[in-house]
Amino acid sequence: MSFPIHRKRRLRVSEPMRRMVRENHLEPSQFVLPLFVVPGEGIRKPISSMPGNFQLSIDELVKECDKAHALGIGGVILFGIPDAKDDSASGAYAEEGIVQRALRAVRRALPKLLLITDVCNCEYTSHGHCGKIVNGDVDNDATLEWLAASAVSHARAGADIVAPSDMMDGRVAAIRGALDQSGFQNTAILAYAAKYASAFYGPFREAAESAPQFGDRRTYQMDPANGREAMHEMELDFEEGADLLMVKPALPYLDLIRQARDRFPVPISAYQVSGEFSMLMAAVERGWLEYERAMMESLISIRRAGADIILTYFACDAARLLG
Ligand code: PBG
Repeated sequence: MSFPIHRKRRLRVSEPMRRMVRENHLEPSQFVLPLFVVPGEGIRKPISSMPGNFQLSIDELVKECDKAHALGIGGVILFGIPDAKDDSASGAYAEEGIVQRALRAVRRALPKLLLITDVCNCEYTSHGHCGKIVNGDVDNDATLEWLAASAVSHARAGADIVAPSDMMDGRVAAIRGALDQSGFQNTAILAYAAKYASAFYGPFREAAESAPQFGDRRTYQMDPANGREAMHEMELDFEEGADLLMVKPALPYLDLIRQARDRFPVPISAYQVSGEFSMLMAAVERGWLEYERAMMESLISIRRAGADIILTYFACDAARLLG
């Protein structure tokens, strides 16, 4: 017998061959596009660190959602930037809050577009932290009330899925209870279950104007050194009733996406965050990386690791490429 018997290159000889043996695929329906909404009209303000992304007033947001919907993407996730911030994040759960108004407008224009909302307080607090400050730190249980109120107001305004990103303990149970009590048994919860205190959120905080004014988020978001703890976080959110679980960021945490996929029966999502997007775009702008190839490789890697759903600022361009 001549060596080698196995020639792996046989299955790579042509695109039809490669296509037939391809293990993983991307589809527009797996992508969720994050969008930032601001008060006003006719506003389309570029986010300098995130080329192609904007702060949008509601009228412009509806147009953007229309485009995304036409490309067949899975859904959009909305982030609000209010007119005014205060100590009690009142804009987060106001019936006339920016996200609530945006939801009603998009729901009216595009009844079939899947609408997800980020449930958090950091865009709405004057100090930029994700909850109520008591003695210099975010108070867990007081914050749960704000989160539950926000989730219910989002559901009432038309959200299909609410996605708590605050990392308070017990928030999924608190939100589930509040939704059920208000008659929103069918509103699903996508828990940002394993969310790290990551440097890769930098550009987002410019986009959402949500940088903490003192300290950092390490007393509530996870330590990047910990993987076992991520499984415990996800276990807790699953037991509290989360319908979908998320790992965030994505590329630096592919190991955890894989572990989560193997361990839980629910859909696993991964958030390719602002910093992951921006660093790739920066290299593209310098001519150091090929845009389409680098984008698609990053997305298929997240998919190969086990993500069923990818939240990504590339959602529209990737969907367009997939045709
Ligand atoms: C809100 C929130 C953040 C992101 C999503 N929801 C920022 C943060 O925790 O500071 C980050 C998203 C991104 O970087 O693209 N808490």
